[in-house]
Amino acid sequence: MRRYAMSSILLHWTMALAIGGAWLIGQLLEEFPRAERAGPQAAHVLLGLGVAALLLPRLLARLLGGAPATAGPEWERRLAAAAHGLLYLLMLAVPLSGLAIAVTGRAPLQVFGLFSVPNLMPDRSLHGVFEEVHEVLSNLMLGAVALHVAATLWHALVRRDGVLRHMMPGGAR
Ligand code: HEM
Ligand code: HEM
Repeated sequence: MRRYAMSSILLHWTMALAIGGAWLIGQLLEEFPRAERAGPQAAHVLLGLGVAALLLPRLLARLLGGAPATAGPEWERRLAAAAHGLLYLLMLAVPLSGLAIAVTGRAPLQVFGLFSVPNLMPDRSLHGVFEEVHEVLSNLMLGAVALHVAATLWHALVRRDGVLRHMMPGGAR
């Protein structure tokens, strides 16, 4: 097997874009005056919940479609598996911690005209804690993705072993 299943490839890149977009908008949120924050906030939530919603289909696609074998030494394959495990974990934990901020907010969070995230906990004492957790986890995610991209570049430019092609459409499986 030379590459991932097409479903895994499509989900990998769609989710990478959604995570990048959510992260960027999240960083910029505070730059918007409060009165103009609803739109970017809704876009942030939509992208973030999209990531959470696609996670189960992605894990199923991975389970059914498998993964191409890598040629590196045992320690390297273990490190890659651990890094991928951490990325999967963060793809769940970051949106969940975001959701925790929203449900402990002052008012339901309107997501354009589509739906609203209800305010489930009138006691707001945990709101600030969840904000901290969400910020720390999303920064951790940025770090993990940066290492992941660095590893990919190392494979592509130094090792030249075709690992990047595992995640590219086209060619035989
Ligand atoms: C992959 C998904 C997500 C990523 C990468 C992400 C990332 C971020 C980042 C980087 C910030 C700015 C943190 C700061 O510097 O204070 C932020 C803020 C925020 N996020 Fe997310 N987020 C995601 C999903 C979600 C979801 C699903 C929700 C809600 C349902 C959410 C709700 C919020 C809220 C309410 C804030 C503002 C918190 C504050 O005012 O400090 N996020 N997010
Ligand atoms: C938010 C961004 C990203 C996340 C969360 C992410 C996550 C993942 C995960 C979990 C896997 C493992 C798939 C599996 O075997 O189950 C993977 C594989 C891969 N990713 Fe990413 N990725 C992201 C961005 C990128 C970017 C920007 C690149 C390229 C520069 C990239 C290149 C690859 C490659 C080449 C593989 C296949 C590795 C192999 O076959 O061993 N990823 N990614």
